[in-house]
Amino acid sequence: MPAVVAIGRKPDVSACGYCHRAEGSGGPENARIAGLPFAYIVRQLADFKSGARSTAVPNRAPHTLMVSGAKAISDADALEAASYFSSLKPRANIRVVESETVPKTYVSGWILAKSHSTETEAIGQRIIEVPDNLEDFENRDGHATFTAYVPPLSIKRGEVLVTGQDVGKAPACANCHGKDLRGLDAIPSIAGRSPTYIFRQLHEIKTGVRAGTAIQPMTENVAKLDHEDMIAIAAYLGTLRP
Ligand code: HEC
Ligand code: HEC
Repeated sequence: MPAVVAIGRKPDVSACGYCHRAEGSGGPENARIAGLPFAYIVRQLADFKSGARSTAVPNRAPHTLMVSGAKAISDADALEAASYFSSLKPRANIRVVESETVPKTYVSGWILAKSHSTETEAIGQRIIEVPDNLEDFENRDGHATFTAYVPPLSIKRGEVLVTGQDVGKAPACANCHGKDLRGLDAIPSIAGRSPTYIFRQLHEIKTGVRAGTAIQPMTENVAKLDHEDMIAIAAYLGTLRP
């Protein structure tokens, strides 16, 4: 594991492994980066650095630190980190559950966690993604697993959208992301990833705050998607094998 992943570079580059985990498994508050294409990782670091890839919630600490790290990282460390993470195999860690009701949650750091009571509440139009074991997650265990609750019927609706069957909404994602949606050349995998992460990206691409150098083909795809469509897409993609 390269030093920049394990311990970072003082003072400005935090260890990639601290947030994304040593195995690159990530969490809903950041991203799984294990197995992403090398060229894609390098491009994202450059887009964070230039400010082209920003966020709808400017003061969100995980993002702020991602950006300050990308600004300070040396080219050599960036290439080493990209090569390391792209060589890892992504591991399935999400269970997607359709439900009218969800456990009550609270904000723990930068994620949602299940409340200690057995109370539930209506899901509404939300994705509620929680670690199955908060302690594993907080201890940066790369084997930590998650459950993502989504509104009823989301998965089927998501499949219709992802496969391009709702012609007026979006083209088939497989056209560019590969036939199994696990990425193609420098285009990233969207299969089996955190629904919260996927939703956030679709939203940020649509609102233009994520405007990286290679985002152009995506902006058209999201133009007609509303929040309900994005939840459905994120739900369906979460059920696929990474
Ligand atoms: C303080 C936490 C933190 C650290 C440290 C960190 N990141 Fe990130 N990283 C994030 C967050 C948060 C995002 C997701 C931003 C978003 O939702 O758009 C992210 C996103 C990324 C992405 C984009 C993933 C994708 O699928 O587009 C890559 C690549 C990445 N980080 C690489 C790295 C590398 C390499 C390092 C070490 C040099 C690193 N990160 C260090 C928090 C961090
Ligand atoms: C015409 C080609 C094309 C099509 C069709 C396409 N994408 Fe993309 N997508 C891309 C490219 C290129 C990127 C990488 C952009 C970058 O480097 O920042 C991307 C990135 C993404 C990302 C960000 C992934 C990450 O790791 O942060 C998501 C999410 C995504 N696409 C979802 C979809 C969905 C859902 C569909 C189908 C509705 C779709 N894409 C269809 C080209 C496409």
